[in-house]
Amino acid sequence: MGDFNPTIIGFACNWCCYAGADLAGTSRMKYPANLRLIRIMCSGRIDPQFILKAFKDGADGIFIGGCHPGDCHYVSGNYKTEKRIFLVKGLLAGLGIEPERLELNWVSASEGQRFADAVTAFTERIRQLGSLGLNSPAPVELAIPAAADVGSPKPDLSHLRAVPEAGQFESRMPEFRVPDGA
Ligand code: FES
Repeated sequence: MGDFNPTIIGFACNWCCYAGADLAGTSRMKYPANLRLIRIMCSGRIDPQFILKAFKDGADGIFIGGCHPGDCHYVSGNYKTEKRIFLVKGLLAGLGIEPERLELNWVSASEGQRFADAVTAFTERIRQLGSLGLNSPAPVELAIPAAADVGSPKPDLSHLRAVPEAGQFESRMPEFRVPDGA
């Protein structure tokens, strides 16, 4: 596991986390280079589909960074994100993906060190979890029939009730008799 180099996709809101990442960079703070950071205007822009697609396309972990609660530049975007991430984590668990592979963190524009520390800790966690490997195609086994079996197969209808021949139908019409002497 020590050689495993995870792919981590990050989504950072423009106003806080992305600025914090910028500060970490300009201050030459060190953090693992596994993170590919995508700038979004607000963490509330995160659609669960972004997360599922990133995992499907090969991400081993996803880091989402937004403004601290109460600091969102769109008032309540990060509160919505928090609820959404809670639901997506449940969905991931249902799909057999460790919810720990998804991280939501709050980083302000002045917290370059907090950003570097959060990314370092998250990268180490993903390293421990190992590769998710969703983008490595599973081998497909094709069942190719033998040449003798190719043709129009007769359907097995043995479970159906036998259909009676025309002469086998019983008349269900009641028999009317005219009483004698009428
Ligand atoms: S603007 Fe940063 S989380 Fe909304």
